[in-house]
Amino acid sequence: MSSKQRTRRSSTSRQSRTLRFGVIGAGGMGQGYCRIMNMIPHARLAAVCDVNRAAAEEAGRTFGVPSFGNHLELIKAKVCDVVAIVTPHPFHYQPALDCMHAGLHVISEKPLTERVSTADRMVATAKKNGVVFAVMFQNRLKPVVCKALELIRSGHLGEIYRATLMVLEYRNQCYYNSGAWRATWKGEGGGVMMNQAPHMMDLFVQFCGLPSAVFGRTCTRMHDIEVEDQAEALLKFPNGGTGYLYCSTCETGPGQLIELFGDKGKLVMRDGELSFYHFHPGIRAHIKTCEDMWAKPNVFQMPINIPQVHSSYEDYEAPLQVIPESQPGHAKVLTNLVRHILFGDKLATPGASGIGSLELANAVTLSSHEGRWVNLPISRSKYDALLSRLQRESKFVKKAAKVQRATDPKLGA
Ligand SMILES: NC(=O)c1ccc[n+]([C@@H]2O[C@H](COP(=O)([O-])OP(=O)(O)OC[C@H]3O[C@@H](n4cnc5c(N)ncnc54)[C@H](O)[C@@H]3O)[C@@H](O)[C@H]2O)c1
Repeated sequence: MSSKQRTRRSSTSRQSRTLRFGVIGAGGMGQGYCRIMNMIPHARLAAVCDVNRAAAEEAGRTFGVPSFGNHLELIKAKVCDVVAIVTPHPFHYQPALDCMHAGLHVISEKPLTERVSTADRMVATAKKNGVVFAVMFQNRLKPVVCKALELIRSGHLGEIYRATLMVLEYRNQCYYNSGAWRATWKGEGGGVMMNQAPHMMDLFVQFCGLPSAVFGRTCTRMHDIEVEDQAEALLKFPNGGTGYLYCSTCETGPGQLIELFGDKGKLVMRDGELSFYHFHPGIRAHIKTCEDMWAKPNVFQMPINIPQVHSSYEDYEAPLQVIPESQPGHAKVLTNLVRHILFGDKLATPGASGIGSLELANAVTLSSHEGRWVNLPISRSKYDALLSRLQRESKFVKKAAKVQRATDPKLGA
């Protein structure tokens, strides 16, 4: 399609002010999209698609839209302006690329894909075709997260010396047995870091950026699965700062944590509660100048006012009145995407910004398999070779699984 045709198509959509959405992957999460799509201002559900044709047809009947047995049929029907890709993560890439080439805007569920090389290509293809590409990291729009970012970006922490991430996303064996694709190298391309931890890993990367090197260790500790249910790593940051990462589906909360220790303060986000401590004087100044051998900097816990709605997203409140309680985050991201396409609002979750957490996950896996420190950005070809080998050599046979297309009611992962 020529750029002229694309421009014509997008300006037509802008005039009509309603974007037609296709949902690719009518499983647990995909049906969640179907349920809320017509409640998003200027959006409507126009089609569903699933390689399981019976599932596609059932969703089509339930939501009163045409259904398709694969994404190429959906593209050919020309009934969509935007697609939401809600398939298992290794199957985000190809539908995304084909839809972008056809001039459709794309939002992909997290993680973008299972490997950074294909995520790079998704970003490049969107750019080449002049379409919008977004990723569903809905937690970024939570008021508490907006507040944390505001504190960090306005310099309240000063230079960051240590960053800790602890992701406790307990899952039982029944969960892993609910889909043949789950927790396999072929079906997911990774374990806890690929499926359950990406939201927290994404916030961690938004807060403190990517490390320059990692030393990782992954293992399958308690579940009968092929991929890791526990991942840990030492992180080195470009400024010499240090970091720790621990992600597990064996351990349950409380204790989900991002903690940043900076020169001027400490920020703690624990189980969704934010605390901020201000140091006076700053750490470096106190270490160098204090003449009392047992003195420490003063530490003040600062009151934090977290408005229910962050001011950047006030316009997104309307749909939330009618959205199921479990999906306010998805509704906000979709509202932002629609408003970005139609009215030029700043895109809160650009596809390119989804690469960071994936880069970190791939780096920890690569380091664990190589048994040494790995520098970031990682070698795409080395990671591809590792993952292809793991997929090729996989001998894991999934025990009798009871397939369930039902997503976490709290949308934790
Ligand atoms: N943002 C969140 O909080 C959140 C929550 C849950 C799931 N997810 C993500 O959503 C995605 C799907 O998860 P789920 O729980 O809905 O899985 P699921 O197994 O319930 O559904 C996946 C569906 O995709 C279909 N499918 C597979 N390959 C396809 C293809 N090439 N084209 C069309 N359909 C295809 C399957 O038949 C299945 O119906 C995953 O990437 C997961 O990480 C995100």
